[in-house]
Amino acid sequence: MTKVITYGTFDLFHQGHYNLLKHAKALGDYLIVGVTSEHFDENRGKINVLEDVLTRVQHVRDTGFADQIIIEDHEGQKIEDIQRYGVDIFTVGSDWVGTFDYLNQYCKVVYLPRTPDISSTAIRSNMFQPVRIGIVGTGRMAPRFISEAKYVSGAQIIAAYNPVNDAESFSEFRTHFPSLIYETENYEHFLELIDAVYIASPNETHYNYAQKALLQGKHVLSEKPLAFTKRETQELYDLAETKNLVLLEAVKAAYCPGFQELINVAESGRIGEIKDIEADFTRLAAENSRERTDAEYGGAFYEFGPSVLVPIIKLLGTNYKDISFHSIFDTSGVDEYDKMDIYYDNAMASARTGVAVKTEGQLVISGTKGYILAQSPWWLTKHFEVRYEDSEKIESYDPPFRGDGLRYEISEFIRKIIGFSRNGYKLTAEESIFMAEIIEKYTEYKNKQTSGIDHLN
Ligand code: CTP
Repeated sequence: MTKVITYGTFDLFHQGHYNLLKHAKALGDYLIVGVTSEHFDENRGKINVLEDVLTRVQHVRDTGFADQIIIEDHEGQKIEDIQRYGVDIFTVGSDWVGTFDYLNQYCKVVYLPRTPDISSTAIRSNMFQPVRIGIVGTGRMAPRFISEAKYVSGAQIIAAYNPVNDAESFSEFRTHFPSLIYETENYEHFLELIDAVYIASPNETHYNYAQKALLQGKHVLSEKPLAFTKRETQELYDLAETKNLVLLEAVKAAYCPGFQELINVAESGRIGEIKDIEADFTRLAAENSRERTDAEYGGAFYEFGPSVLVPIIKLLGTNYKDISFHSIFDTSGVDEYDKMDIYYDNAMASARTGVAVKTEGQLVISGTKGYILAQSPWWLTKHFEVRYEDSEKIESYDPPFRGDGLRYEISEFIRKIIGFSRNGYKLTAEESIFMAEIIEKYTEYKNKQTSGIDHLN
């Protein structure tokens, strides 16, 4: 019996896929089809796949050509599969000529003619109108957002809004991106030009911009924190739901594939029951930066608190018993460095955030059988290790990571807008609302601690 194997994503199943499978089957007696997992596609940078893996598997099954369907979920798996299943022929379409010649040492490699003029990529781009996005705020995040959005098909940045139009950063931004439409006065008018907004303005303005955008029927991706109170955050999510709009808080870690892999490993039981999480995020900010000069809305906790909360919420949930904060404030009341302790019934977590104190900046998830160590920058998750009592035993993970990570949250945003969301599990409304609750608690603590300081000085 001649065994044939082929692999593909098979997104939005089309005639090219059908022909390929038909010809592959004709090469032998038994056809194995490997369908890529979402995780694997994301890891190799293919972040626009619309259908989930079960739907894609079903489409392959419906052709009747596959005798066996397997999931391809890691680099190097092809060699393993060929050996495990005793494969005689590996085949793919001619767009891959040469790429898989290295498999010749394990079996015969056949490149089948590719069906012309059809691909999932082409179907995806014809299926949807691009989402026209406007950016609010032209500071540090805006240029990064524009360069990362290029990797997400369907995302089209067309406009920018900044009411503080005399800022140096604004004219610099305009020079770099002359083709955008600029609006400096009328936010409502700016909203009329677009379908969705990315809010990257100063922290205290996020809520207002988000609320107005939602009221005007626009999808919102907002930098963190979305709002400073639980009530306001809840209100924004309710508004988005009522108007059937997408609202996402841009906490980068939550959308990175490597971080999801880390969470999955932690939840898999590999380190036993999770008892403690330590998450640090510190970045020394310039003394004249907003983070270090704005006593009301700057400071380390508002800047990095949402990020350190993500692994804690994902793994220990929102049902905590007690929480406490300790901060070092500068003379004007800016928190330069914070420690947060959260206690649960049978677990605990601590986090440190800093804009004027540098720490190791790692994430440690400790369990009853071992622990996970992800070094800084764990929120981009390019490497993490599972370690045990036996210090010789270390399992390393190196999930691929593309660009500066923003593309993953942009991709999730677009996918949700065009209706192919994956239940929004990456950062749910409940998780965002819980983060706002903690931020609100921090504000109470901070106000008490700094009540003697005259903020106007
Ligand atoms: N294929 C083909 N003819 C096409 C498109 C795909 O023979 N017109 C083959 C590919 O060569 C591969 C298999 O179908 O062997 C699965 O390819 P996949 O990457 O899933 O499909 P594409 O349409 O090429 O997807 P994308 O545009 O996302 O790259």
